Amino acid sequence: MKDAFGIPQSLLVLGGTSEIALATARRLIARRTRTVWLAGRPTAALETAASELRTLGADVHTVTFDALDPDAHEAVLGKVFAEGDIDVVLLAFGILGDQSRDERQPVSAVRVAQTNYTGAVSAGLVSARALQAQGHGSLVVLSSVAGERARRSDFIYGSSKAGLDAFAQGLGDALHGTGAHVMVVRPGFVRTKMTAGLEEPPLATTPEAVATAIELGLRRRSETVWVPGSLQAVMSALRHLPRGVFRRLPV
Ligand SMILES: NC(=O)c1ccc[n+]([C@@H]2O[C@H](COP(=O)([O-])OP(=O)(O)OC[C@H]3O[C@@H](n4cnc5c(N)ncnc54)[C@H](OP(=O)(O)O)[C@@H]3O)[C@@H](O)[C@H]2O)c1
Repeated sequence: MKDAFGIPQSLLVLGGTSEIALATARRLIARRTRTVWLAGRPTAALETAASELRTLGADVHTVTFDALDPDAHEAVLGKVFAEGDIDVVLLAFGILGDQSRDERQPVSAVRVAQTNYTGAVSAGLVSARALQAQGHGSLVVLSSVAGERARRSDFIYGSSKAGLDAFAQGLGDALHGTGAHVMVVRPGFVRTKMTAGLEEPPLATTPEAVATAIELGLRRRSETVWVPGSLQAVMSALRHLPRGVFRRLPV
């Protein structure tokens, strides 16, 4: 359960090596989150991430989780919830893909869609059911501004995030009144290994800034969080531009 200050005591990260998720875990541990589960593919990086969080004083466990193996999600996540209540599930896995390669290789494009969208549908539904059974807890979904309007330069990733975002909004409505809650987080460009080597657009931000926004959103029980906040107005304007104008923009 959250403590008297609304700080979650337990966190489950799906995508346990995500830089945004680990910045969020560090921030929550500093605010007294005690138990962290890092769910991810079984790599040395996952164990290193767990060791680093342990040095901050948290009780950290790792569990094997693959977004591309939805048949295993109920069993894997069920075991975590069976160990005790989870206050926050942070759905952080995702891949950017490579737009030009993925256009040439539809199988690679499908991998982006299956990781970011169908993997999240499965893991999101399993997590939501467990939170609902507890009667409390938040599912935080890392969507993206890329899902707001498909761009020529990344419409494969963007469409997977649009699907994820719509799914998470609907799931939030389904959980309304149950005690469980869904928060959709829409970051812009964040400096992590996912975006390493890419040209930085204006308003680029950091994993720590996203973590700060997530913590604040959890305290407020927000349904939607933009990072940085100014992107909400920018994306609203871009979303309403006529198609022919939008197509000519260098975005
Ligand atoms: N960076 C940005 O600019 C940005 C902006 C908006 C939204 N986001 C979203 O924020 C989330 C976190 O991104 P990040 O920047 O923190 O990137 P990151 O550090 O590259 O983290 C991505 C995570 O996804 C995991 N993952 C990929 N495929 C997986 C699979 N099949 N099963 C399980 N885990 C899998 C990776 O695990 P492995 O270690 O096993 O590869 C890693 O933990 C993503 O959903 C991303 O789309 C990022």
